Order: sequence, then C-alpha cells, then structure tokens
Amino acid sequence: MKEKIRIAIVGVGNCASSLIQGIEYYKDNNDIIGLMNYDLEGYKPGDIEVVAAFDVDKRKVGKNVNEAIFAKPNNTTIFEKDIENNGTIVKMGKILDGISDHMKVFPEDRAFIPSDEEPCDVVKELRDSNTEILLNYLPVGSEDATKFYAECCLEAGVAFINNIPVFIASDEKWAQKFRDKGLPIIGDDIKAQLGATITHRTLTRLFRDRGVKLDRTYQLNTGGNTDFSNMLNKNRLRSKKISKTEAVQSQLETPLEAENIHIGPSDYVPWQNDNKICFLRMEGRMFGNVPMNLELRLSVEDSPNSAGVAIDAVRCCKLALDRKISGPLIAISAFTMKHPPVQYADTVAKEMVRIFIRGRENGEEINNVLNREENVPLK
Ligand SMILES: NC(=O)c1ccc[n+]([C@@H]2O[C@H](COP(=O)([O-])OP(=O)(O)OC[C@H]3O[C@@H](n4cnc5c(N)ncnc54)[C@H](O)[C@@H]3O)[C@@H](O)[C@H]2O)c1
Repeated sequence: MKEKIRIAIVGVGNCASSLIQGIEYYKDNNDIIGLMNYDLEGYKPGDIEVVAAFDVDKRKVGKNVNEAIFAKPNNTTIFEKDIENNGTIVKMGKILDGISDHMKVFPEDRAFIPSDEEPCDVVKELRDSNTEILLNYLPVGSEDATKFYAECCLEAGVAFINNIPVFIASDEKWAQKFRDKGLPIIGDDIKAQLGATITHRTLTRLFRDRGVKLDRTYQLNTGGNTDFSNMLNKNRLRSKKISKTEAVQSQLETPLEAENIHIGPSDYVPWQNDNKICFLRMEGRMFGNVPMNLELRLSVEDSPNSAGVAIDAVRCCKLALDRKISGPLIAISAFTMKHPPVQYADTVAKEMVRIFIRGRENGEEINNVLNREENVPLK
C-alpha cells in the first residue's frame, strides 16, 4: 500500500466539499464510475488525506473539516454524508481580497461571513501538519490572497495546485520560484470533468477538424452558488474572462475577433444552488460557404465536476514529488486546467498525462506524441 498523500485546502467551499466527499466515497466504492483513474500508479482516491485547512468564514473556522464542508453557505449536493473525522480543524486564514464587499447585500446563508479570529501562522500550520500539497479554492478575484498562500507554500516547502484563475503556474516568474525551491506546481483554473469549457473546446476543435469555419460563439453560464454570486462583481472577473476565453480561442488556428466571442458567468440564480447551466451557441460556415449553427444546453452540478479532475491532479502532483520533479507540470496542467503554461488539444494532453504517469515524460514516447502534426502546442 502506498503512503498517504497529505494535502491542505485553502477555501473550504463547495469544491473542497465535493473533493472530500469523493475521497470518502471511493474508499468504499471501488467501482470506477465518475473517475478517469481509480488506481494512479498505486495511488487510489482514498489515499488522499486532508491534514490542514484554512478558511475565513465564521461558520467554518474552528470546526473539524468533516463538518465544515457542510456548513453554509456551501450548497453543493451531498453524495457522501459520513466523512471520517481525522481531527483536522479549519484554521483562520488571511482574508486579504478573499471576500468582496458586494456580498454583504446577500442573505447570510448565501454569503461569506468573516470570522473575527486572528489569522493563524499558515507556514507553521503547513509545516506542523507535514502538508505535501496545498490546493487553492479561493473565490475568483482573490489575487492578493492567492499570492499570499503561494508564498506560504514556497516558504514551507509545499507543492501548489492552483484551481482558480489567478496566474501562478502560467506566469514564468512564479513558475521559476517553484522550480528554484524544487517544488511542483499545477495550474491555473481547474477545467471541470465535463463542464462548459471542455465541451466548448471539444466542439471548437471539431469545427476546425471538419473544415467548418467558426464565425461567432457565445457561452453563457448561470448558477446559484457563492462562486456565481461572487462573480456578480465584474471587477473580480478580469483573469476569469481571459482564462475561459483563451481556453476556447487556443483551439482555433486563427483566434476570433474579440467581438465575435463572448464567454463568461452570466447571472446568479439563487434557486439553482450548485447546479450550473451553460448555454452555448456556435455559428459557422460549412461546405460551399453555407451557414450552420449549433445550440447546446448543459446542466451539471458544478463542484463534483471540478473534484473529478482535482482527484487526478493531486495524485499526479504526488508522483512529481516522489520523482523529485519541480516547476510547472506541463502535461497534467494542460489536461486539468483552463489556463496552463502550455495549451494542447485535450486528446494530446491526455496522452501526455498517461506517459507522465508511467514516468516516461523525458523519453521517445512524448516526442512521438508532440511531433505529430495535430499536436503542435496551441497558441
Ligand atoms: N466548480 C468548478 O468546476 C470550478 C471550475 C474552475 C474554477 N473553480 C474555482 O474554484 C474556486 C472555489 O470554488 P467553490 O465553488 O468551492 O467556491 P466557494 O465560494 O464555495 O468557496 C470559497 C471558500 O473560500 C473561503 N475564503 C474566502 N476568502 C478566503 C481567504 N482569504 N482565505 C481562506 N479562505 C477564504 C470562503 O469562506 C469559502 O469557504 C472558485 O474560484 C471557482 O471559480 C471552480
């Protein structure tokens, strides 16, 4: 049996809840429904253990993680309610720009309520708990807070998985800092298992592969969780918009003019809770310059959708630690993140991850994948 993978979580919100529920769920269910990999080079989902957690909401700070994940304003579906209590308590983090003022107008059950506890010493907590990997699940727009926790990782010698659209793994200056410390990093902005981005990218790629010229497209998303209410503050969306738009533009030979592509969170509908609905429209021209269009409506529970991907990112990060690989992990970032250091078509990224998992990322095999014509890195 492999040793445990010791992770810390910053932001004990819906995504963290789904991930932690999933770790428990797959301990007893070794069917592989919902997983891309059950056994990843010996690491199973149940081998992940949350040994430290940070939040700033008074309903979560001070609670055991197994209770905090069910505290308001979390509202994702509960598919595993009995989570083993391993004694990990949610500690008070540093608020910085984590909570947006506009949230104050929402009912308490739907907003973040800051705790008035003093912040803990994050670096010490990471060291004392022997954390190996920290996962960032802060609200969109938490630029300063993300950088603060990334610095804590560098100081404590902890690897970093950046699930949010603040550019760290894809920023060369930050990437170098992790390389210098001998630490792996995966990022940025998690690409859900079967969500709006992967669907939009795949269809964009299909248009291209089939010779259909994409002229215009939009992706409108609605949801009723705090991720969506937080994103009502448009000032927090700059990086999110770049991340989501580039994820689709990168699949085209020639990117669309800005006015012909609109992608983003579109509204907050409280009663949807953690259900996200994506409306997608693509207009193009096919054989003989004849117009066509496609419309799609996707309905998914938002947070398990990200956890299905995070569960592999964590295990690949652990493999990198075992193998002393440092800096941005190119293959797994391209596969699991919307804004990775290098964009590849998703089929290519998947092959690259398989090769990485087998420990052959420096050999012939990877060159064979990369040298195939369709596999040239995307812009
Ligand atoms: N669901 C997905 O598929 C998906 C995909 C891509 C990115 N993401 C991103 O992942 C992030 C997490 O999503 P979520 O749905 O879990 O959000 P959430 O709103 O449910 O949780 C955010 C948590 O962060 C806490 N927090 C705020 N400021 C903090 C600080 N300074 N320190 C510590 N904790 C702080 C909040 O109290 C809350 O518990 C968001 O940025 C979201 O956009 C999610």
